[in-house]
Formats: sequence, structure tokens, C-alpha cells
Amino acid sequence: MTKLSNRVLDMEESVTLAASARAKALKAQGRDILSLTLGEPDFVTPKNIQDAAIEAIQNGKASFYTVASGLPELKVAISDYMEKFYGYAVPANEIVVGTGAKFILYAFFATVLNPGDEVIIPTPCWVSYVDQVKMVDGVPVTFQTTEANDFKATVKQLEAARTDRTKVLLLNSPSNPTGMIYSKDELQAIGDWAVEHNILILADDIYGRLVYNGNEFTAISGLSEAIRKQTIVVNGVSKTYAMTGWRVGFAVGNPEIIAGIAKIISQTTSNLTAVSQYAAIEALTGDQSSIEVMRQAFEERLNTIYPLLNEVPGFEVIKPQGAFYLFPNVKKAMEMKGYTDVTEFTNAILEEAEVALVTGAGFGAPENVRLSYATDLDTLKEAVRRLKAFMEK
Ligand SMILES: Cc1ncc(COP(=O)(O)O)c(C=O)c1O
Repeated sequence: MTKLSNRVLDMEESVTLAASARAKALKAQGRDILSLTLGEPDFVTPKNIQDAAIEAIQNGKASFYTVASGLPELKVAISDYMEKFYGYAVPANEIVVGTGAKFILYAFFATVLNPGDEVIIPTPCWVSYVDQVKMVDGVPVTFQTTEANDFKATVKQLEAARTDRTKVLLLNSPSNPTGMIYSKDELQAIGDWAVEHNILILADDIYGRLVYNGNEFTAISGLSEAIRKQTIVVNGVSKTYAMTGWRVGFAVGNPEIIAGIAKIISQTTSNLTAVSQYAAIEALTGDQSSIEVMRQAFEERLNTIYPLLNEVPGFEVIKPQGAFYLFPNVKKAMEMKGYTDVTEFTNAILEEAEVALVTGAGFGAPENVRLSYATDLDTLKEAVRRLKAFMEK
């Protein structure tokens, strides 16, 4: 008998984590690898948040289990945050806190999907959605968005993907990996379509505060009462507050679904680590000035590196509006170098140029690679210089 379940055998490892591990392994062998793989800020968690966590440990508050769905004080902080950035406050029974937005997403799928239920996922998309849906026996229904439409899904495409098993539409704006943001009108049309067909919207808004050059994030859940009732918002502090290691995520929406997610938490992780909950309270309610400093740093990097990347032969890239990724189309670059497979091309860049990128294949984009610009400007400039030299060789 094989030791492993089909569930695990069928599952893909996260390509971003795999690419980062590969870069680290080569570095450990003494190679001078520049890694642009991981989607996490290179800043440490702001001091006021660190201090709040230390205090919670030292005064004993962080020693104990909390309510499975999260500390009441944290829910108040999240409700205030929603009021400020989404335009509506929420009662405590519409909020659940968990171990990273990633686990919250998994618990959401486990809460709403029966075997065979379909989730529409426009691609390119973040690597984990498809596997998470499969893990709970749901069916991911993916389709390609076009670069001509800035990688955004249209209602026409959604309608073509809809069946009588469609239960959820997944929307991620700003998007990982494309960095594109849906406009208010686009979201209104999509929201109305979802309401008309009674499809739940899962709005992964994790990059909502990381927007640049005057672009704005619109929350689909804030567009109308009907859309809000149909939407579960997933968000967290990882990206905005440089807190990836603390693993704080939350969901806001329909109380029955929220209670389902809390039930799963109660039977799996019990609760988000108490000290992280105290840190998150400070993140959401404390001094916000460091957040803007980090956002501006990302913006500066984007504005510096985007024109340089466009000069790399065979790389064609749309300027992202948010998140911290560039997602160039490398079809021409692959042709120039004699590759047909983007993963092999990415591996060649790693071996020969010593720059670690993430293959677009894991995001459902066989002609693209992803570069994270959540790293310092000198590294970014040198990485792009190496890419250019690689292509010109
Ligand atoms: C689109 C998207 N959603 C969710 C997450 C998960 O974030 P967290 O660190 O809160 O688990 C990520 C992290 O890479 C992401 O890119």
C-alpha cells in the first residue's frame, strides 16, 4: 500500500516556495544568486508592533488559547479597519481571524464546497488557489485572461465559465502575479453578475493597500448591499505591515460561512497564535506612518525597475498598478534563446544569469515569469543588468 493519499500525491508544491528553496540551496553552495522569488516585504515588522507583541508575552496575555475565531479586541480593530477602508463596519460574528490569509482561504473552501462544486478562477492567478480547491474535492474552473485586457476577467468570460455547479468566483485585486487592479465599473459589472446568478465572491484583497502611482483599490464588497452580502473578504497584515512571519489572516462576511471557518479552525489550529493576535491589534490600530514609508519604497522600486526591465531584449511587461510583482511576457525572449518551456527558461536564467525568478507555469501563464520587487534597489538593478546580459549573449 502506498503511504500517501491521492490528495497529497495530486497536489503541486507551491512554485514560489520551491523556486525560493532552489535559490537558497544554490546560494548555500557558494553561488552568487540574486533571488526575486518570494512575495514578502524585505522590511522587518515595525517597532511599535514588535513592542506590543513583547508586552503581550511579558504580561502573560499571550500565554493562553484564545477564542477560536479570534480575540474580541482584534475583531473590533478589524471592524474599524473595514469601516475606514471599505466604508462599512461589521459585527463580531461576521469576522474570523486565522493562521494567515492562506489558511483562511483553505478553510473557506472547506466550508462552502461540496465535492464537485466549482470555483471560477481567472488566470494568471496565485499559485495556491487551484490546489486548495482540489484539496477539498472542489473543481477549479480556470480560463486565461488576456494581456490586451490587462489580465482582467470580463463578464463575458465569466459567463462562459459558469455552469449550474458554479459556487464561487475568486477575485484577487491587486493581483498576484500581474499587479493589475480591477476598476470600479469592472467590479460593479462582475458583482452584479455574481448576485444575479447567486455565486459567492471570494475577494482576496491582501494587496489592497499596496497601490502605486495614483492607482486606487476598489473593494467589490463596498459597491452595493447585495454584492456585500454575496462576498467574503479575505485580508491580512502580512504584506501591508511586513508581517508575513506572524501568520495573521482574516475573513469578513456572511455569518454562517464565518462560523463554518471558525469551526474548522477550532478543529485544526485551535486559534491563531495569541501573540500574533496582539501584534495585529497594534498593526491595525497603532501608528500607521511606517506603512506609508514601505509603500513608497515599493513604488520607487517599481518606477525604477520597470523601464529597465522593458529594455531587456524579448521581455514585454505591462506596468503593474499594485502588489509587488512584475510579470513580463517572455515569449520572444524564449524564442531568441531557443526555449519552448517557460520553466526550463527560468531554470536557465537561474543557472546562467544567477537570477532566481518564478516560472509563470505555476500561475497558469506559460509565457510569463514573475519577479518580485520586494527587495532592495541595488539587488533589483543588478538582477535586471544580469538578465539583459543573459539575453544579449
Ligand atoms: C494573493 C495572495 N493571497 C493570499 C496570500 C497569503 O497571505 P498570508 O501570508 O496572509 O497567508 C498571498 C501570499 O503570498 C497572496 O499572494
